[in-house]
Amino acid sequence: MKNKKALFIMGSPRKNGNTKLLTDKFAELLEDNFEIEKIFLSEHDISPCKECYHCIDKDECSIEDDMQELYGKLKESQVIILSSPIFMGGISATLRAFMERTWHLRKGQLAGKIGSYILVGRRDLGAGINEMEEYLSRLQLNKVAGVFGFGFHKGDVLKDEEALKNIQRISKQIISLNQI
Ligand SMILES: Cc1cc2nc3c(=O)[nH]c(=O)nc-3n(C[C@H](O)[C@H](O)[C@H](O)COP(=O)(O)O)c2cc1C
Repeated sequence: MKNKKALFIMGSPRKNGNTKLLTDKFAELLEDNFEIEKIFLSEHDISPCKECYHCIDKDECSIEDDMQELYGKLKESQVIILSSPIFMGGISATLRAFMERTWHLRKGQLAGKIGSYILVGRRDLGAGINEMEEYLSRLQLNKVAGVFGFGFHKGDVLKDEEALKNIQRISKQIISLNQI
């Protein structure tokens, strides 16, 4: 029975680009075991953090935009998978804004959920892996390995057999962790 939810947060501005394609493959492999929800961040109104420090002693963000709806989705999901293309040696500004806006969730509110990520670059992932690993650690998620895909033009990543194989391996691991 699918009583648990896997949330995919996609940080690519390119519709049906490589990040989306790899995310779709990952989601397909989890769909028999989890209710799937995919959020394409570029379709949402999400400002970066304005550093107002409202959340320093409150469990909420003061900015009234689409993040308010996403906080609830993060809390109700058992699996959280972030994805981003690599831009200038790191994750996209779109995903970065989302991450900044979860600062008030760093005190263990999402602890124990399963976390993973997908990164897609043309050839060099730069600081992307560290950014993702650091973020999932700060949220106190139970991290499983990330997936790295390589491709430039839309669709290229589907020729990356190593990435497709890794998605299979990691999705099986997520399913077995869910059964513990
Ligand atoms: C502004 C910009 C910067 C990029 N910088 C990098 C980079 O540093 N390293 C890399 O491997 N690919 C880089 N790329 C290539 C993209 O990561 C690659 O095309 C990826 O497949 C795009 O994913 P998408 O189709 O989901 O948008 C860059 C692309 C753009 C548009």
